[in-house]
Amino acid sequence: MRLSGHHILVTGGSRGIGAATVQKALEDGARVTSLDIIAGPDLGETGLSLAADVTKSADISQAVAQAVDRFGPITGLVNNAGKNSYADPVKMTEAQWEDVFSVDLKAAWLVARAVLPGMIAAKRGSIVNIASVHADMTYPGMFPYAAAKSGLVGLTRSLALEVGPYQIRVNAISPGYTETFLVQEFFEKNDPNLREQVLNAHAMGRMAHPREIANCIAFLLSDEASFVTGANWKVDGGLTARFAG
Ligand SMILES: NC(=O)c1ccc[n+]([C@@H]2O[C@H](COP(=O)([O-])OP(=O)(O)OC[C@H]3O[C@@H](n4cnc5c(N)ncnc54)[C@H](O)[C@@H]3O)[C@@H](O)[C@H]2O)c1
Repeated sequence: MRLSGHHILVTGGSRGIGAATVQKALEDGARVTSLDIIAGPDLGETGLSLAADVTKSADISQAVAQAVDRFGPITGLVNNAGKNSYADPVKMTEAQWEDVFSVDLKAAWLVARAVLPGMIAAKRGSIVNIASVHADMTYPGMFPYAAAKSGLVGLTRSLALEVGPYQIRVNAISPGYTETFLVQEFFEKNDPNLREQVLNAHAMGRMAHPREIANCIAFLLSDEASFVTGANWKVDGGLTARFAG
């Protein structure tokens, strides 16, 4: 029960890594609020599922107020909502660029901005931003996902320095291939043999289950990670430990 006494806000908590994080935090004793544009499962007495678009600051402030009203001050935030991008750098429009960056980068700042006043007042808090191995290496055809996720790692460092004096920690987790909707979508857009190649490139010969990412997120949220801040932890089954050959 290492998250007992915590109130954790998870964005994109209706499915995939976000849903696994919601479940793990509930099991570890936290009260949990999930924000998503799609409906999620019933979270029971200790969970609250709210409809919100995390690119819209009005949605965020309304949802945060509702969450605090129900479960008290937010002690942990997981900026998990995100999406892939498969744009062509020449054909992409400015509106499409802004759409990617609003979800994959700007939303993390917008939600942090809404919860930080409470964390600063309490001199307590942990923020975990879900970046990606694309912050370090990337794959052709996914423009400009790597740019947005690299930005998220920069935001993590910068925010960690700004709020460290209040004992608030800010870290990133960079998952590798994780069995969710986004990975299915990625394989559907590529050659059918790619899945086998990808599995072979992993030291462990497999992709992650969302729960394996959630376990690391829960650790960073907990007081056991009390001296970890400004970090970006890869959770990728050894994928980026290897180069071609
Ligand atoms: N699956 C992977 O292999 C992988 C690898 C690296 C990083 N990631 C990152 O992990 C995070 C979770 O991805 P996932 O694989 O679980 O994907 P997913 O598509 O299964 O889940 C993402 C969730 O975010 C929600 N969401 C999207 N836009 C939103 C918005 N504007 N407002 C509120 N909610 C919104 C979606 O509705 C969905 O429930 C993403 O940030 C993704 O970039 C995933």
